[in-house]
Amino acid sequence: MTRHFLTLKDLSPSELIALIHRAIALKQDPMGSQTTDLLHLRTMVLIFEKSSTRTRISFEVACAHLGGSSVFLSPTDSQMSRGESISDTARIVSRMADLIVMRTGEHSRLSTMAEHSAVPVINALSQDFHPCQLLADLQTFFEHRGDIQGACVAFVGDGSSNVCQSWVNAATMMNFELRVGAPGGYHPRAELVSSAGKHCSLTTRPQDAVAGADLVLTDTWAGMGQEAEKAQRLDALADFQVNEDLMATASPDALFMHCLPAYRGQEVSAEVLEGPQSVVWDEAENRLHAQKALIELLMA
Ligand code: CP
Ligand code: NVA
Repeated sequence: MTRHFLTLKDLSPSELIALIHRAIALKQDPMGSQTTDLLHLRTMVLIFEKSSTRTRISFEVACAHLGGSSVFLSPTDSQMSRGESISDTARIVSRMADLIVMRTGEHSRLSTMAEHSAVPVINALSQDFHPCQLLADLQTFFEHRGDIQGACVAFVGDGSSNVCQSWVNAATMMNFELRVGAPGGYHPRAELVSSAGKHCSLTTRPQDAVAGADLVLTDTWAGMGQEAEKAQRLDALADFQVNEDLMATASPDALFMHCLPAYRGQEVSAEVLEGPQSVVWDEAENRLHAQKALIELLMA
């Protein structure tokens, strides 16, 4: 059966833990004995309907390391922008390529692609979820602090972001506490929060989210597709910046993560982003290793 990766929950908790350990092993020896030629004579098609730096590079480099080739389609390059349906596109790509990596807006576009694709479809970001980011984030926590089980994680800022909503999924799967500090109207979707049960709590006070936390996270206040609401969002989220004062209330050895791109002076201060608790550069690099491990799992 074709396996897709549209949300973190497409993996079992034990597969997720194994994937993190595999990503850590691959990182030790990125081009060496750990790396197979799994994608030899195979092709990855990247369909990106939104901008990307990290995700595109990490997937294309991962594909090259695994011996495969990749084809990148931006909205202007494919017939999808001229009205060819996602379902027809999925069937065509499936006949020629071996893996589809798609970045899009509405999550349902990914579900439609997966429904009609005979090859694995990976969510490279949708409005609702960014599960590939979580693979790298979890790997980064494991590398710096060990198992995340039982840890206290604080997400401060736009709790409705795709990254935060993926952290809500991770909380149940990895058995840690997630506290989301966000203003009203910027919380993760209610059904996600309720499915996380005791693992996820909401507050409108950033200090309450961060108190004693082992990891503090944020994301841009105006994501891709939210440009028209930017002024309103910056105003609503102004008191939710992760800065040194807020970090001082976390555990003394707390880590700071951000999926990037970061907007210094908005969701995070330059001091925190560049400071000793920040692991954002490792986090970005780990996109490569974690996604290699994901490709192995889906293509094996
Ligand atoms: N974090 C992330 O997905 O970055 P890009 O938008 O640059 O791919
Ligand atoms: N929430 C951000 C993440 C970017 C990687 C966005 O969707 O733009």
